[in-house]
Amino acid sequence: MGLLSRKATCNSHGQDSSYFLGWLEYEKNPYHHLHNPNGIIQMGLAENQLSFDLLETWLAKNPEAVGCKRDGQSIFRELALFQDYHGLPAFKKALVDFMAEIRGNKVSFEPNNIVLTAGATSANETLMFCLAEHGDAFLLPTPYYPGFDRDLKWRTGVQIVPIHCTSSNCFRITASAIEEAYQQAQKKNLTVKGILITNPSNPLGTTMTRPELNLLINFITDKQIHLISDEIYSGTVFNSPSFISIMEALKDMNMEKNNRVHIVYSLSKDLGLPGFRVGAIYSNDPTVVSAAVKMSSFGLVSSQTQYLLSVMLSDKKFRNHYIVKNQNRLLKRQRKLVSGLEKSGIRCLESNAGLFCWVDMRHLLSSDTFEAEMELWERIIYDVKLNISPGSSCHCNEPGWFRVCFANMSEDALELAMQRLKSFVGSIKKHNHQESEKLRKESHIGKWIFRLSFQSFNEQDQR
Ligand SMILES: Cc1ncc(COP(=O)(O)O)c(C=O)c1O
Repeated sequence: MGLLSRKATCNSHGQDSSYFLGWLEYEKNPYHHLHNPNGIIQMGLAENQLSFDLLETWLAKNPEAVGCKRDGQSIFRELALFQDYHGLPAFKKALVDFMAEIRGNKVSFEPNNIVLTAGATSANETLMFCLAEHGDAFLLPTPYYPGFDRDLKWRTGVQIVPIHCTSSNCFRITASAIEEAYQQAQKKNLTVKGILITNPSNPLGTTMTRPELNLLINFITDKQIHLISDEIYSGTVFNSPSFISIMEALKDMNMEKNNRVHIVYSLSKDLGLPGFRVGAIYSNDPTVVSAAVKMSSFGLVSSQTQYLLSVMLSDKKFRNHYIVKNQNRLLKRQRKLVSGLEKSGIRCLESNAGLFCWVDMRHLLSSDTFEAEMELWERIIYDVKLNISPGSSCHCNEPGWFRVCFANMSEDALELAMQRLKSFVGSIKKHNHQESEKLRKESHIGKWIFRLSFQSFNEQDQR
């Protein structure tokens, strides 16, 4: 009999994915501009560190929010005792207003339809728990966030069936790809309970188009299944086309009250606070909301955090300023990465959101295989000393794509990373050139030897 349960030891957690292995390698030898300048630069972590100064300036001006005070009076005891899993009403109101603001106030959200969770990780798992039985399936467009293997499958026993998207149409979702995934699930005798999308996409850094959203809404309506839209990157859209939330698409189809569509949100990316563990589920279905509220006991947001953020996010002037400034900084940073990669002859999928680019390194592979992708990744992590995430860890079915993050480091570190990559690509080109020169010479020598031996053979023959 094992010491641990089968649930705890089964391998559906996905921790052996190159996505997590890259983090482990980084931790053994992390880059530091003074203490370890030859270390590994972390470009596999979707963190937003570009706007901390805005948050810190606000905190300095609002010490009451951090000091558990309201109108000069301490509310420490009130917060210390607060444990209602419905959450602080003031925080839920501030959060839905922030969500609406990010969506250009084209849609509004009802605070009673929101369930607070310890990050989007917990929100996604809670929805799986509430909507699917052990062994049921959710369809996910590829490439997708590697953490979903853990979040959606591990403890709930839910299966993920990929909707294969390809570079031929910039990884857009098509009707035939959805239908094919649905058929695949049925062939495996899996009951499909829904589709989960990430909009804007991690790892693509793109927003979904209206035809894609309409297609998804029509499909789930037809099949009577759920649609979860993980909109954790909604506030990171820094360029056109603008973001269309699933809520907006529903509204435009007069389906606003659809109770099969659920949104996942979190402040981990838009505010850059993954350590605060603040996430949410938004659903129009009261039975989903009440089941999720019960589940939220396992991952509440601390009342101190809720209080601080309720004060911060109700500051309308601050939140508007933050949203715009943060997006401008992300745009600048993304451009820096794209132009840095271009100098090495590397191109990215055109993107308008997120904290990363989806980078095409197919031309650097030694062959069109996932083995070659891993070989390249190993060279990049051990020789070039950059941790980037291979497309295979995101379940991309074309070898040679990598996710490269740009917002979790200083500008200098990004520049250094680009220099390292440039000399690496240069060395590959030089090596390839030398190899082809060698081959060319060998074939010349070969021809020459052949010609000589042919001549001497003829001479012998004539003798
Ligand atoms: C698409 C997506 N969903 C969920 C998460 C988890 O976020 P959180 O830190 O809020 O749990 C991430 C984190 O990278 C993500 O990219």
